[in-house]
Amino acid sequence: MKFFIHTFGCQMNSSDSEHIAGMLLATGMTAADSPEESDLIVVNTCAVREKSEEKLYSLLGRMESLKKKKGILIGVIGCVAQLHRSKLWDKKPFLDFIIGPDNYGQIPQIIPARTKDKVLMTQWSEDWHDLPVQQISRESDVSAYITIMEGCNNFCAYCIVPFTRGREKYRPIQSILDEAEGLASQGYKEIQLLGQNVNSYVDPGTGKNFAELLKDMDSISGIEWIRFITSHPKNFTADIAQAMKKASKVCHQLHLPIQSGSTSVLKRMNRGYTRSEYLEKIILLRKLMPDIHLSTDIIVGFPGETEEEFQDTMSLLEQVRYTNIFSFRYSSRPQTAASKKKDDIPFEEKKKRLIHVQSLQKKIQFEKNKRMIGQIQKILCTGKSKKDPLVYSGRNAGYQVVNFNSDEDVRNRFIQVRITACGPYSLFGEIA
Ligand code: 5AD
Ligand code: SF4
Repeated sequence: MKFFIHTFGCQMNSSDSEHIAGMLLATGMTAADSPEESDLIVVNTCAVREKSEEKLYSLLGRMESLKKKKGILIGVIGCVAQLHRSKLWDKKPFLDFIIGPDNYGQIPQIIPARTKDKVLMTQWSEDWHDLPVQQISRESDVSAYITIMEGCNNFCAYCIVPFTRGREKYRPIQSILDEAEGLASQGYKEIQLLGQNVNSYVDPGTGKNFAELLKDMDSISGIEWIRFITSHPKNFTADIAQAMKKASKVCHQLHLPIQSGSTSVLKRMNRGYTRSEYLEKIILLRKLMPDIHLSTDIIVGFPGETEEEFQDTMSLLEQVRYTNIFSFRYSSRPQTAASKKKDDIPFEEKKKRLIHVQSLQKKIQFEKNKRMIGQIQKILCTGKSKKDPLVYSGRNAGYQVVNFNSDEDVRNRFIQVRITACGPYSLFGEIA
């Protein structure tokens, strides 16, 4: 029996799909190269924005016709499965299973059994449950995700995550360190710690916090780069900044989502910090680590966002000069506090604001990237271009994509690359 997993959404979903692939392989199934060749399709879904859900429904339309032709098993897992379990159950009768994020441990029992009964499993759990780590089918042989916590207690007004992933659950620190040791012994060089709110991590047993976890991770020999995502400015303390500086393997790179540069919008978003509190953290980070690469998330057109409030976001981008940003038009999500307010910024206005944000950032990034020309950077090569077999691709310590030519196969290795050219979104180089 062959399976295919289609993954939408964030790194945590990618990591969950790697776990699920591992569990299915362990039952004797094999991975298919395409949905058409498979007997089982698992769709791992994202609910964070309306657009991600729309993409899912168009995919499900195609899946339904495939099912009619071939009689395969099809199921939906992940955040939309959790959120719209009843709607999916009623409106998509062709689905064989709907499984929420806290129930993935049951997958090996449910799916290969090929029962005629449909399965709906979306119970929330209050505690952390380890999925078997020896059964992860990882995409990369050199860079690995390790989930350290799941869920979120923050209830930002726009955000659906607390309704899809539940309250915060923390993984025991020993289990995290054991997984990291195991990866190091298999030759992995980079680890990305994952969680919706990693900075609020506390080990359920010892009470060790995120800064202490970074320190412990730093002592694992063989691992050279450690990163983490996602941080929340409210929980990102000076202790964590100090721990980043002290831990030599922690990359000087941080994704610190601000969402808006306006203190009044931040208040309406229930973010728990002001513009100046956020900027103080940026100043501290740059003082401790002058070479740090910062990135952020921006939402434009949050309910009631005035032109002046929007201009605060523009000026913040000018002030911080991020290495990279991810920017989105606000979309109302069910159950959230903001969904009770009128989504009053017209679509065209949101579109215009997004274009302004993105073109300002494009200019900033191009200026910053141009200054890197001539530098020799340490790159972790993760892949090869599909179009040109001599072009390799990797990331620098700042998590920027760097493409370069090489006659030798340098995949899964660290190499020194001289930056020779750039665009606003990527760097090009040659082996130094
Ligand atoms: N509308 C638009 N963007 C959103 N995000 C989260 N919820 C919404 C929403 N309702 C963005 C935030 C978050 C990122 C993962 O997605 O910027 O940090
Ligand atoms: Fe999407 Fe958030 Fe769920 Fe990740 S946790 S898949 S970003 S809704």
